[in-house]
Amino acid sequence: MEIFAIANWKMQLNEAESMSLAKEVVRLWAGQGAEVSELKVVLCPSHVSLNEVSEAIHGTPIELGAQDVFWEDRGAFTGEVSPVTLKERGCRYCIVGHSERRQYLSETDEMVRHKVAALMRHDINPVLCVGETFEEREAGRRDAVVIGQVRAALEDIRPVGNQRLIIAYEPRWVIGTGTAVQPDDAASMHYLINETLRELYPEDVVERQCAVIYGGSVDSGNVKDFIASPVIQGVLVGGAALKAAEFVRMLEVAADASRA
Ligand code: 13P
Repeated sequence: MEIFAIANWKMQLNEAESMSLAKEVVRLWAGQGAEVSELKVVLCPSHVSLNEVSEAIHGTPIELGAQDVFWEDRGAFTGEVSPVTLKERGCRYCIVGHSERRQYLSETDEMVRHKVAALMRHDINPVLCVGETFEEREAGRRDAVVIGQVRAALEDIRPVGNQRLIIAYEPRWVIGTGTAVQPDDAASMHYLINETLRELYPEDVVERQCAVIYGGSVDSGNVKDFIASPVIQGVLVGGAALKAAEFVRMLEVAADASRA
């Protein structure tokens, strides 16, 4: 299985900024060793910038992802974006259930499950975000909350063919703080998520099609410690993905660590 480096640009950039960041990442990364790296790099701009970023990365190994999707293909759903549109734009990945959507837009596990199913229907690989709040962790509920989110989102869902199912463990309370959790701490959660996946799917599906990645204040300084863990199969990156030089430095460190 590949190692993933997925950039979540959130709502941080306008169209022109997204295009120039994508071009700069291509210039710095796609030319030098990207082809031989095990690292799968995915850029997730806002919906309105998908076209520009798609053009900027065209012909390179860098892939396109979206930050959200609606679960119906078409209909009276004002403001929503269909998986069909994401497919037309060339998205191979889509983030779902990000903690910011759960927090600010009251996205529920059930909505997340519908979204995962819609993506699978259209052969777009879901990046399912799960994670506990600080209060939940303090109350000793980290494992129950995270495993509950995984199970609820994946009920009756199974990756088929060559589909990938990526679970991003993002402890909510470290996102955007500049301080990640200790790699051992993340690894213990990854281990439990992997156990859960093994309860849901046959061994070969988990091995070949599922990946559990870490997100929350990852940068070029700490990425190595996460990638070095055999149960952490990549990273989902916010702030450190917004500057091309920092992001590509992080990719270089991650690529080295994944070869080690
Ligand atoms: P930061 O890397 O800025 O902490 O954001 C993480 C995140 O939410 C990625 O989805």
